[in-house]
Amino acid sequence: MLEIAIQTQKLSRKFGNLTAVDGIDLQVAAGQFFGFLGPNGAGKSTTIKMLTGLLAPTSGAMELLGLDFAAHPVNVKRQIGVVPEGMGLFERLTGAEYLQFVGQMYGLDRATTQRRADELLEFMQLADRPKTLIADYSHGMQKKLALAAAVIHGPRILFLDEPFEGVDALAAGALKALLGRMAERGTTIFLTSHVLEIVERLCSHVAIIHKGRLVAQGSLEELRAGIPGEADSKTTLEQIFLSIVGQDGAERPQLEELSWLM
Ligand SMILES: Nc1ncnc2c1ncn2[C@@H]1O[C@H](COP(=O)(O)OP(=O)(O)OP(=O)(O)O)[C@@H](O)[C@H]1O
Ligand SMILES: [Mg+2]
Repeated sequence: MLEIAIQTQKLSRKFGNLTAVDGIDLQVAAGQFFGFLGPNGAGKSTTIKMLTGLLAPTSGAMELLGLDFAAHPVNVKRQIGVVPEGMGLFERLTGAEYLQFVGQMYGLDRATTQRRADELLEFMQLADRPKTLIADYSHGMQKKLALAAAVIHGPRILFLDEPFEGVDALAAGALKALLGRMAERGTTIFLTSHVLEIVERLCSHVAIIHKGRLVAQGSLEELRAGIPGEADSKTTLEQIFLSIVGQDGAERPQLEELSWLM
C-alpha cells in the first residue's frame, strides 16, 4: 500500500464570517510531487499555513508522516520544511547567519550546519556578498534564501508557497532540478504555483481548491479524464484548470465594465 505523507480530514479555517478553507480532505502519497492549485484567494496559502503549524485550523484533523499533527506538533515540524507566503526571514542577519541559526534550531551540529549553509549559498548563487543583510537582498534573493533555509535539515516533506514567483529563469532552472532530484530521492513536495506549465512539468499529482473547497484531486491523467468534452493526452493543465474553476461564466470579469480605460 502507498505510504501517505499528508492526509487531512474536513480541514477548515474561518476568518470571522469568511470560510477560507472549507472542510478539505487532501491525500498526498509519500514521495509525490504535488501541485496545489486555485485562483487568487481560493485558500491555498491558508491551507499551507495550517499544514505547517503556522496557523491553527478552526476544525478538522491533519496527519503528516503518519503522525497526528495536533498530538505531535514538534515531531512533525522537525521533519518538514516550508517556504511560506511571507517567507518570514530575520532581515537583520546575513544569509549565512540566518542559515546557521535555522540549522542549529533544527538540531544540526555547528560543523554540519556550516557545510550545508556554504553549499546552499553557493548553489543559490548567494555566496558572493557574504556581508549583505537579508533586508538588502532583492526579492528573488530572499526567495532563494528562504528555500535554502527550508531544506537545510533535509525535510521529508517540503511545502512551497509560490516558489518560482520573482525568481529569474536561471535560478528557476536550478530550483526545478533541485526539487526534481529531491522528489526522486523520496521527499514529498507540496507546492502552490500559478505557473501551470511548471506545475504540469514537475508535478505528478494535483489538487484544485476553489472558494475554500477541494474541487479536484488526482493524477494529471485522472483530471483529464474527469473533464467533460474531448480531453486527450494533449489537454494542458491550464485547460483542465480553466474548465474546472472557470465554468461559471458569470464570474469572468467583463471588459466593458472598464470602458473608461479604453
Ligand atoms: N489573516 C487573515 N485574515 C482574514 N482573512 C484572511 C486572512 N488570511 C487569508 N484570508 C482570506 O482567506 C481567503 C483565502 O486566502 P489565501 O491567502 O489562502 O488565498 P490563496 O489561495 O493563497 O490566494 P493567492 O493565489 O492570491 O495567494 C481570502 O479570501 C483571504 O482574504
Ligand atoms: Mg497565496
